Amino acid sequence: MTDTLDEPIYKTDALIAEDIDQYLEVHQHKTMLRFITCGSVDDGKSTLIGRLLYDSKMIFEDQLAALEADSKRVGTQGQEIDFALLVDGLAAEREQGITIDVAYRFFATEKRKFIVADTPGHEQYTRNMVTGASTADLAVILIDARKGVLTQTRRHSYLAHLIGIRNIVLAINKMDLVDYDQAVYDGIVKDYTDFAHSIGIKAFTAMPISGFKGDNITGPSANTPWYKGPALIEHLETVEVDQVSDQLKPFRMAVQWVNRPNLDFRGFSGQIATGTVRKGDAIRVLPSGKTSTVSRIVTLDSDLDEAVAGQSVTLCFTDEVDCSRGDVIAASDNPPQAADQFEATIVWMADEEMLPGRPYWLKIGTQTVTATIQQPKYQVNVNTMEHLAAKTLELNAIGVANLSTDRQIVFEPYETNRTSPNKVLGGFILIDKITNATVAAGMLHFSLRRAQNVHWQATDVTREFHAGLKNQKPAVLWFTGLSGAGKSTIANLVEKKLARMNRHTFLLDGDNVRHGLNKDLGFTDADRVENIRRVGEVAKLMTDAGLIVITAFISPFRAEREMVRQMMQPGEFIEVHIDTPLADAEARDVKGLYRKARSGELKNFTGIDSPYEAPEDPEIRIDTTAMTAEEAAEAIIARLIP
Ligand code: ADX
Repeated sequence: MTDTLDEPIYKTDALIAEDIDQYLEVHQHKTMLRFITCGSVDDGKSTLIGRLLYDSKMIFEDQLAALEADSKRVGTQGQEIDFALLVDGLAAEREQGITIDVAYRFFATEKRKFIVADTPGHEQYTRNMVTGASTADLAVILIDARKGVLTQTRRHSYLAHLIGIRNIVLAINKMDLVDYDQAVYDGIVKDYTDFAHSIGIKAFTAMPISGFKGDNITGPSANTPWYKGPALIEHLETVEVDQVSDQLKPFRMAVQWVNRPNLDFRGFSGQIATGTVRKGDAIRVLPSGKTSTVSRIVTLDSDLDEAVAGQSVTLCFTDEVDCSRGDVIAASDNPPQAADQFEATIVWMADEEMLPGRPYWLKIGTQTVTATIQQPKYQVNVNTMEHLAAKTLELNAIGVANLSTDRQIVFEPYETNRTSPNKVLGGFILIDKITNATVAAGMLHFSLRRAQNVHWQATDVTREFHAGLKNQKPAVLWFTGLSGAGKSTIANLVEKKLARMNRHTFLLDGDNVRHGLNKDLGFTDADRVENIRRVGEVAKLMTDAGLIVITAFISPFRAEREMVRQMMQPGEFIEVHIDTPLADAEARDVKGLYRKARSGELKNFTGIDSPYEAPEDPEIRIDTTAMTAEEAAEAIIARLIP
């Protein structure tokens, strides 16, 4: 361990705990390197980070005392200090000896300041790794010298590369446990080189270290005379981060809000992502494509003539252009693109598999839209880099798929956009609409041309005309409920009664549609999503034709029922919950399916081993234990035709 860094700078360390902003302020004049450490479980990440912090004197004396005491109690290193305990903050983790969340640490040396994201090595924590990597300039891939290149090494290297990290350090750790043997080191470097080339990593820096003993951390180690490269901290202090200066890139600002305190003032506020904007510059608002000229650059203090990447400003224009939250203001002669269909890489991070066809929220910068993903083109096997066929993506899977959004979004391919500070226009996340959980991260590759070449064809006989001919208002009576709840029976009665009233109707029934249009679909979650998506589209066409559509499908998921509702005109979608308790439906068991499901003969049966999400606020709820089918049909018609 070296003891040469006793500069006054380290006296400011108390600030870290109290006020991180002020701490960073003190270090303002230095450049900053953000990096992640990754690798597999037990390869010594926490120990290494603890060592970096310790050697840069960031730890207080009293913390050190506590650490020594703790090491003796739960540490795995005998009487020596266990640096992992510094990093593994949570008590539960200490007991299990694992790390389970992204922890950001700040430290500084004479030359640079650092933010390190410590990401756990367990396979299920890919999401933490993605989170940590998304802001990093460099990745330290740790390898246990005794184990060599493992699945996790490959997975994390691939993810780091995918996310756009171009500086990779291969830290071959625990060299003390292989007697500092150069042959072991060379063998691992060779293995890794082969792999790295196969995924497009052009260069990396390898070094033999021991986080525990301190070899090649701050300076050359006497134990590895054969190693001529830099020590880890030296490398981190001097490595060039090859970012194009954000200020030199074309101007882009995502609009956070429209500032309109009174009729005389209208400005668009946000943080400049890249480039420079000056008074008098020609700009373009996307996705609309409208152009104007900057008349003022307003800030809290005063007006500016010029503002650059990183600054938060309010822009005013010479014309009244439409521009709202989520829009992007860009240099007029070099704007980003706008599109609604894309190819993207998707890293799935949720326990529940991806459901092609399901609507998710897609967040990209300040834009939030609804997106649906198609069946993946392929999934990547992170060990072999093979492309595998896949119907869906499961937890931690990485795949490529097309996706479409419900309206145009402004974007740039992730590759060109990656180095901007908030990567507003290339990286996105997907959010489950019901649980609000982040389920995936992704990177847009390019827009699909076909989206630009298919236009909406205007027809002269409009939906209003169709409805007028039939002398009725189109509607969708969307029945939902368990199998055997009585959906088909009641739907059939409703249709008969409407026909008698000279209404033009059509009944779409689950069992029937599954014999034709949807005969390729089964009962997995993904197939049910697709079943309902298709039925929704058909029902929509039928309302365009002026019909009153009645559908009788279990439609077990809220997300898809909501999606169909959004497809229809306001007020047109009437959700009818045929509410029969499971016990009653099962007792009737008209088709004998519950019996088969209970005996295990029939898999994925709704209510038994496949979920049913009851409507929270349906337009109509029919309690079949309290009324007959006839009464139910009357009640529904009374609601439809008051
Ligand atoms: S949905 O879930 O995709 O909306 P849908 O209404 O089309 O289902 O089909 C349900 C009908 O298919 C049931 O009424 C039942 O007759 C039959 N069926 C066959 N297998 C299953 C199953 N595993 N789960 C539910 N229904 C099934």
